[in-house]
Amino acid sequence: MTTLSLSTSSAASLRADAIVIGLVKGADGPVVAAGGETVETAFDGALASVLEALGATGAEGETTRVPTAVGAGSLKAPVVIAVGVGTVADDGFDHEQLRRFGGNTARAATGLNKVGVALALDDPASVEAVALGAALGAYIFDTYREKSLEGRKAAVKEVVLLGAKARDKAAKAALERALVVAESVNRARDLVNTPPNHLNPKSFAAIAVDLGKNFGFKVDVMDEKALAKGEFGGILGVGQGSQHPPRLVRLGYTHPDAERSIALVGKGITYDSGGLSLKPPGSNETMKMDMAGAAAVLGAVAAIARLDLAVNVTGWLALAENMPSGTATRPGDVLRMYGGRTVEVLNTDAEGRLVLADAITRACEEDPEKLVDVATLTGAMMVALGNKTFGIIANDDDFRTAVHDAAERTGEPSWPLPTPAELRRSLDSTVADLKNIGERMGGGLSAGIFLREFVAEGVSWAHLDIAGPAFNEGEVSGYTPKGGTGVAVRTLVQLAADVADGTI
Ligand code: BES
Ligand code: MN
Ligand code: ZN
Repeated sequence: MTTLSLSTSSAASLRADAIVIGLVKGADGPVVAAGGETVETAFDGALASVLEALGATGAEGETTRVPTAVGAGSLKAPVVIAVGVGTVADDGFDHEQLRRFGGNTARAATGLNKVGVALALDDPASVEAVALGAALGAYIFDTYREKSLEGRKAAVKEVVLLGAKARDKAAKAALERALVVAESVNRARDLVNTPPNHLNPKSFAAIAVDLGKNFGFKVDVMDEKALAKGEFGGILGVGQGSQHPPRLVRLGYTHPDAERSIALVGKGITYDSGGLSLKPPGSNETMKMDMAGAAAVLGAVAAIARLDLAVNVTGWLALAENMPSGTATRPGDVLRMYGGRTVEVLNTDAEGRLVLADAITRACEEDPEKLVDVATLTGAMMVALGNKTFGIIANDDDFRTAVHDAAERTGEPSWPLPTPAELRRSLDSTVADLKNIGERMGGGLSAGIFLREFVAEGVSWAHLDIAGPAFNEGEVSGYTPKGGTGVAVRTLVQLAADVADGTI
């Protein structure tokens, strides 16, 4: 990952490959953002007009380079990069604007060793936002290329933030928090981007075991034998067509001062072919991403442990590969789920809810106060909310609002959705307790209603359907790369922090 630091150096004296300034879109042309004063001085106060002459407007994401030799030459760095921040509200930058600025800065500096960022960062939250954006925006996934980008592992090696009070303890702590969270988000991205012939339930579980050792949480893996003994019919039913048997992984993090608890459950289908209800070509190209929920849960628990949050957390990774074969579950089969309920599988492509149902039932045995599941569950959710926004379904209106609010504060777009009573009937089966598909209309909602059946009474539950934002097939922007995005890690960490400090 990019190395991030705070420095009291002036932009003029910093030895770096470039100095980055923020460029604001003003009413009468671009304006250099606060913190860039020394750089302006080096250009005899003409920097904004030089940039404007080069076509810069200050629009968000725009980058413009100026060699410092044309200025007074009093900067040690050879180039100034102006990164557009867009228009600014009267009360200053919002945090999402700062995260995007950080991300755009890192991407503009691709290939450089060291850049200094001359932007005023007056409070720890602003330091955290720019640092997080930079660490996320510098993300590169080149593990499977013959030649990696000089083995850099990040777009730019080192980013120095010049505009914060570098000796301020709170600023340093904010930088540390940003690095911990960014590392978890980037790890979730790596897992999502890893090709399905290189990640299967067993190897995913092994990665969880390693992380637990490194960061101080307990990891217990149930293999196919343990799952059979425990009668986890949902996970086994989904995994039985694959050469790679399923796993259920329990992550346990406890804190001595914790009074509250939350369970996090992630869908971890390492490849979703659809099973015998096979997906058509085109719909299966990105289905390595169907474990993004489990990746988010693993990333979140690692970050929560490293941040030492005073809350007890269990994480559950429901890992299976959904494949067609002579041993695969057939449309028409009835599975006996963990806990004893039966489900008629009418479509083997509605597999996420089957693995999650077992994991949710198991998670509830430990009486968590709250439970959040995260899943790339339905294409219908993408039809409803698009590619950037995840849906939130819950059995508790206050908790749904709290989750939405936590997501909002971290800059992850989400939207609350209902559980219309009449949709429950569409899950009635003629031969079993439930069937695994409801009516087509409102498919994202009936999937949530199916999961709700497995949540124990008294547990506040929310379901995040991240099918849209988990994988970016569109353009790179701000701090969001192509491919795996690591979505939901930040929301889950924020939620755990809110539970720890009693806000929720
Ligand atoms: N993993 C898919 C959902 C998905 C689709 C995620 C596209 C990301 C992008 C899920 O397992 C699935 O196949 N859902 C079906 C459910 C249907 C059969 C009721 C779907 O949405 O079509
Ligand atoms: Mn599926
Ligand atoms: Zn799936």
